[in-house]
Amino acid sequence: MNSKAVVLIIFGTRPEAIKLFPVVHALQARGDVAVRVLVTGQHRQMLDQVLQIGEIVPDHDLNVMAPDQSLDTLTAKLLTGIGAVMDAEKPARVIVQGDTATAMVGALAAYYRKIPVSHVEAGLRSYDIYQPWPEEVNRKIIGTIADQHFAPTEVSAAALRAEAIGEAGIHVTGNTVIDALHWVTDKIAADPALASGLSALEVRFKGKRIIGVTTHRRENFGEGMENIASAIGEIAAREDVAVIFPVHLNPNVRKVMDARLGSNPNVAMIEPLDYPHFARLLAISHIMLTDSGGVQEEAPALGKPVLVMRDTTERPEGVTAGTAKLVGTDRERIVAEVSTLLDNEATYSTMARAHNPFGDGRAAIRIAGLVADACR
Ligand code: UD1
Ligand code: UDP
Repeated sequence: MNSKAVVLIIFGTRPEAIKLFPVVHALQARGDVAVRVLVTGQHRQMLDQVLQIGEIVPDHDLNVMAPDQSLDTLTAKLLTGIGAVMDAEKPARVIVQGDTATAMVGALAAYYRKIPVSHVEAGLRSYDIYQPWPEEVNRKIIGTIADQHFAPTEVSAAALRAEAIGEAGIHVTGNTVIDALHWVTDKIAADPALASGLSALEVRFKGKRIIGVTTHRRENFGEGMENIASAIGEIAAREDVAVIFPVHLNPNVRKVMDARLGSNPNVAMIEPLDYPHFARLLAISHIMLTDSGGVQEEAPALGKPVLVMRDTTERPEGVTAGTAKLVGTDRERIVAEVSTLLDNEATYSTMARAHNPFGDGRAAIRIAGLVADACR
């Protein structure tokens, strides 16, 4: 008879996979609960890249991705698919991470079955329901349902307390992205070939300062993306810089970037990088220019100035620490802020200091212990 409680870990996109593979490893290493992994396949190629490097073999894969599908279609598919797996696995507890459609629907399906939910990366708030959209509401819904809230920092714990979430359910654990970054850094140290795929670009751009770019936020689609593309084109006109830009697979990003930047010799638009190669891009970049959540957490840990192409952030810790700055999506503002960092050594060195507001790399072990305790 298998008496171990089943813990179902649900994820579907690249950032959730990066931030949950350390939790899967930590729970498996304990051996006191039965770990089951359900991937929704909300992302396909970008998820599979992480499953491979993170050595995760899912027990269930819903394969829900379809090109450019609407939030309605995605949400409906997720709800019936996740619900069916819960009915088969009968988990004692469910773990979701962050604020994606997969995470929100995973929590909702668990609630419909009165299964308790642990929320990894709880308490992030921008206090604007349309920035980021739909993530701000997704994480509030999960916060309403979950009984274990793993806040990465005291700032996020305070946000939960302000929403009258009981102290007993709030645990400050650090963000598991730092665990993932440490893990991949160790893996690259043992096998440098894992991150050697950028060497041709490194040779091509030798002597130039690299600006690493990522962008994908839904609220930036349309005018915001056009502005970002124009700004990158203007920045890349400088002889002393080169842009390396792994382009998100969302067609709303790719069509704009292909049209506006496809022929710029100083901009390398490349396919999404697997995690070791992205860690290498962070290491060789002089500045990161991004609207990503995860990159806002990784860049401060590595002492890389990060300019955030958003008007608000639910991750104010990087801004407070001085490594991150909100620059919005106005073309002139982006160009001006990048130029200041390139031309003003004092401004640059003030931002280029390693800070670790997001954790010490042991978040997953803490989370696994708290989850296992809750299953007793
Ligand atoms: C999703 C999340 C967002 C998260 C982001 C991380 C929601 C609503 N959005 O946004 O919170 O920050 O992931 O990257 O949950 N596509 C591919 N291959 C892939 C991945 C995506 O082709 O591996 C294309 C497909 O056409 C897909 C589209 O991108 O339909 C959009 O994917 P989706 O997961 O709906 O939204 P993202 O913009 O990726
Ligand atoms: N990342 C990656 N390859 C890339 C771009 C990003 O591995 O080409 C990683 C990055 O290190 C971070 C995560 O993906 O951990 C961020 O994902 P994304 O920006 O898609 O989502 P967000 O964090 O904004 O939800």
